[in-house]
Amino acid sequence: METRRALAALGAMLMMASPHFAGQGKTDARKPDTIQKQSFGKTAAGEEIELYSLSNKGGMGASVTNFGATLVTLKVPDKNGKSADVVLGYDDLDGYVNDKAYFGATVGRYANRIAGGKFSLGSHTCSLPQNNGNNTLHGGLTGFNKHVWKAREVNSAKGAAVEFSYLSKDGEEGYPGNLSVTVVYTLTNKNELKIDYSATTDKKTVVNLTNHTYFNLAGQGNGDILKHELMINADTFTPVDSGLIPTGELKKVEGTPFDFRKATAIGARVDANDEQIKLGGGYDHNFVLNRKAATGLSLAARVSDPASGRTMEVWTTEPGVQFYTGNFLDGSFKGKGGGAYQKRTAFCLETQHFPDSPNHPSFPTTLLKPGEKYHTATVYKFEAK
Ligand code: GLA
Repeated sequence: METRRALAALGAMLMMASPHFAGQGKTDARKPDTIQKQSFGKTAAGEEIELYSLSNKGGMGASVTNFGATLVTLKVPDKNGKSADVVLGYDDLDGYVNDKAYFGATVGRYANRIAGGKFSLGSHTCSLPQNNGNNTLHGGLTGFNKHVWKAREVNSAKGAAVEFSYLSKDGEEGYPGNLSVTVVYTLTNKNELKIDYSATTDKKTVVNLTNHTYFNLAGQGNGDILKHELMINADTFTPVDSGLIPTGELKKVEGTPFDFRKATAIGARVDANDEQIKLGGGYDHNFVLNRKAATGLSLAARVSDPASGRTMEVWTTEPGVQFYTGNFLDGSFKGKGGGAYQKRTAFCLETQHFPDSPNHPSFPTTLLKPGEKYHTATVYKFEAK
């Protein structure tokens, strides 16, 4: 009994001495992960915007803001233990308010494109604002990335976590139904950033949520990503027309520049003489993921940067992933530290349902009905060797 008490006291003393607990006041002694909250400024309408900085035991750090439920920084150690921020973005709120590239953004109500800004729900035709040629892209004129979300720190057994919630009103951007959405970012002690997306509705609607982070595993602002080696766990992809709308075909990747079943440098075929590559201006395509089971997390992709040794795996519950090589970056976006982000200085792996699913009955459905619960999850897992 005495020994047990002495051990418990020693344990408590060691915990208090740990750097994770320094200066934390009343932090739960069972939770060594930290969250720091600071002001990220105010919107023009006077809303307070916060930046939450999460850290874990593996030396990783992530910061997220309630403006757009956006991932702002992601610090990952390299093979020598040197940390770098591996995501593109801005230094301040203004950058995110004016952003058109969706850096770090939570995208909704419908990520990716809906052809002609139209789809039908039963006998009703929904019309959406067209913000990408005559198509609707990434939720419309004012997508989820431009709204102020409610934030709450959550006590997760897996690590430091922040939950963002937003009510997208019936009719917002043309979508029917009050959609109540939550997005939870968790930085686990296994060096994973996990994003959980949930939603419920009071009318039939469509939902397709993703995160649009641009990664550069050498560190943002540190050159292009053409030497990064990529594996995508997909036997087929959805070819597109000139408006980047899927034709409906599921095309085999075999024998095409879209075959990433074995890890290949992103730059090896990015300018190949291939009709689909030309239409995308590089890679800007949805891959149909090989999944072991219909539900649960399944490995979608693995990317590694040979120079820094950083590797990222993407695991998801989703059926697809949009692989995008930053083809529209042209130096006009002044990012972190004032640097101009040039073409192909980042890649995106946007886990999702297929683009334009509401107009393709053969694609997995994106319909959400009252009484149903939408839940998807994506994990970005890091390692350095
Ligand atoms: C997605 C789209 C791209 C582009 C980017 C944002 O990845 O598929 O075509 O719109 O978002 O610039």
